[in-house]
Amino acid sequence: LFSSPPLSLCFQLLFPSDDECADMDWDNLGFGLVPTDYMYSMKCSDYRKFEQGQLSRYGKIELSPSAGVLNYGQASCCLMYLFIFEGLFEGLKAYRKEDGQLILFRPDQNAIRMDIGAKRMCMPCPSIDQFIDAVKQTALANKRWVPPPGKGSLYIRPLLMGSGAILGLAPAPEYTFLVFASPVGNYFKEGLAPLNLYVEDEFHRATPGGAGGVKTISNYAPVSSFFHTVLKALGRAKNRGFSDVLYLDSVNKRNLEEVSSCNIFIVKGNVISTPATNGTILEGITRKSIIEIARDCGFQVEERAIPVDELVDADEVFSTGTAVVIAPVGSITYGDKRTEYKTGAGSVCGELHSTLVGIQRGIIEDKKGWTVEI
Ligand code: COI
Repeated sequence: LFSSPPLSLCFQLLFPSDDECADMDWDNLGFGLVPTDYMYSMKCSDYRKFEQGQLSRYGKIELSPSAGVLNYGQASCCLMYLFIFEGLFEGLKAYRKEDGQLILFRPDQNAIRMDIGAKRMCMPCPSIDQFIDAVKQTALANKRWVPPPGKGSLYIRPLLMGSGAILGLAPAPEYTFLVFASPVGNYFKEGLAPLNLYVEDEFHRATPGGAGGVKTISNYAPVSSFFHTVLKALGRAKNRGFSDVLYLDSVNKRNLEEVSSCNIFIVKGNVISTPATNGTILEGITRKSIIEIARDCGFQVEERAIPVDELVDADEVFSTGTAVVIAPVGSITYGDKRTEYKTGAGSVCGELHSTLVGIQRGIIEDKKGWTVEI
């Protein structure tokens, strides 16, 4: 019933989420949570397959106090605690086309990334088809919350967590896959204005051998290990008036890694460079799409180690992510030095932004098979 083309028709009968947009101020959407109508959940016990997923009204979930996702294992050395957060998440967007049809951008890539992350975190994962089906169901059931064309998107958040009760340090006996959604506009409060980044040289986002390359919740947590201090560094930078933090690698404290919420690119002439993903950098789906679009546009794209010193000579810097899309960077401050970059009309970032967003919204023909109409 839920995986064949008449899906949207079935939905109109089963879930009366009309085609009209919900009554809200669509002109002032930011990235705050707007609760929608339905969420999707599916469970897996004892490492068997995920099954019997279903939509239910959006609302609170019940968890055992000893759920794997909430608990920790105590390392016995030197009074140190090692927190285990069994949790992965994804983020993808649904757009509303002029003809009312919904369009998803590369949902298969999110499904594959969650699968890779689940293997790294020793968790079972829904199949690619189950993942995509759940995302489609959630988007369609919340159709009235997909903003009008050009006003934003429905941000869809799939989560995978160890929900089973566990006391000792071991994988949880039950896992829950959840999908919820919220309409969103621009991620940064700056809107489309250029970002001002701060190079963080005290705190690090990830470390070799860790899980910085997968979308685990601990990479975004306040303090989940000695290295994972993203919210602390971000809060400190925001208090100083910066938009976000640009991290350096934790070994040499020299090479660019990523921004708290997105990947980073620098432009010099016809060459666009981005840090190579080496296990400490998230394999962004927007990152990967921009690399391909930039090559199609005739740019030379390099994935390599980028010493922080190169920031001084760059023409442009921009960041990419599902939530962020592509955001121009107007300045980067490293120590006492602030470097400014070209933004706006005629910028490389602007050219790539128009192409990507055009494909995502169904305005530019998708020759790559990236978009999925539902
Ligand atoms: C996304 O871009 O989808 C993310 O998950 C980043 C998050 C900080 C909003």
